[in-house]
Amino acid sequence: MNIIVTGGAGFIGSNFVHHVYRERPDWHITVLDALTYAGNSKNLEGLDPERVTFVHGDITEAELVDSLVKDHDAVIHYAAESHNDNSLSNPRPFLDTNLIGTFTILEAVRKHGKRLHHVSTDEVYGDLELDDPARFTEKTPYNPSSPYSATKAGSDHLVRAWTRSFGVQATISNCSNNYGPYQHVEKFIPRQITEVLEGRQPKLYGKGENVRDWIHTEDHSSAVLTILEKGKIGETYLIGADGEKDNKTVIEMILTAMGKDASDYEHVADRPGHDMRYAIDSTKLRNELGWQPAYTDFDAGLKATIQWYTDNTDWWQPQKAETEAKYAK
Ligand code: NAD
Ligand code: TYD
Repeated sequence: MNIIVTGGAGFIGSNFVHHVYRERPDWHITVLDALTYAGNSKNLEGLDPERVTFVHGDITEAELVDSLVKDHDAVIHYAAESHNDNSLSNPRPFLDTNLIGTFTILEAVRKHGKRLHHVSTDEVYGDLELDDPARFTEKTPYNPSSPYSATKAGSDHLVRAWTRSFGVQATISNCSNNYGPYQHVEKFIPRQITEVLEGRQPKLYGKGENVRDWIHTEDHSSAVLTILEKGKIGETYLIGADGEKDNKTVIEMILTAMGKDASDYEHVADRPGHDMRYAIDSTKLRNELGWQPAYTDFDAGLKATIQWYTDNTDWWQPQKAETEAKYAK
């Protein structure tokens, strides 16, 4: 297989590149990434250039995308503007990349008859009440809340329309919140770890009752590879690892693991439109394709992630001040 990974210099995309590099030694990977503020070529250091080619470019550039897609077997599409808070302060790049970018890829795979796997989020379904016994399934109606989730929802609809109307060979996955190495310090878990490492308090939005369904990014990667190889064309698969935790609990776990008092955090203003709870039912993926998560001990995964940020200050420090300045604004 000769694959393109869009957004392969970002958090989840680069973890997928490392996963495929280890698990499929005879595959060639081309990473297409614009290296926005969220992309970092260091995420791909140490990979053999004979097996991984890096192309610096934008997924909205139709000619570039077309010329790459022509010569590959499949596109695994991770590239996106991915942060809710940014989508509230400046929505425009979310429309450009998440909608026009996905459209551009769809036109190329349609023209050249190539396989596409589209990576999406559970946030397209909106949110659940805290006491609701239900979890999201593939049948849950779309109800996105933020510009980020609305554009991801739109991109999913584009993929379905191109599959149905033009016979594009695509699958879609919607995954819950990822954590692990190489996650940008704007996101919840790395932001809190690096705040503590810099001697400041973690920042909890509102009361911190909001629940996220955490999955280690390695499990997300193994699920996407499974869908790419065994998934049925035209189908959607939800990816989750039964990792529901409220934000206050996660901050307390981080503080305790870092040898601090569990109550040593600050409450800050809540996010407008803040989704209350996400929860994934991944029965379809488990039963139909035989996938299982391997990293189900959240406490152990969190401690390993804290260790990674402690050991890799050179990786995150250059982005930290700018990120906190954005939050302060
Ligand atoms: P990220 O922000 O860390 O990385 C995004 C990558 O895409 C960066 O390398 C960036 O440079 C690149 N990119 C952005 N715009 C581009 C453009 N126009 N052209 C080419 N490259 C561009 O994001 P992430 O958290 O790794 O998320 C990756 C994908 O997974 C996204 O599609 C996101 O919606 C989805 N997802 C994320 C989560 C999560 O918890 N973070 C959960 C489920 C699904
Ligand atoms: P985030 O990592 O932005 O992911 P998402 O919005 O896609 O779920 O945030 C995860 C949760 O953490 C979300 O409920 C918002 C909350 N949060 C905080 O409490 N403090 C923070 O500093 C950040 C960035 C997020």
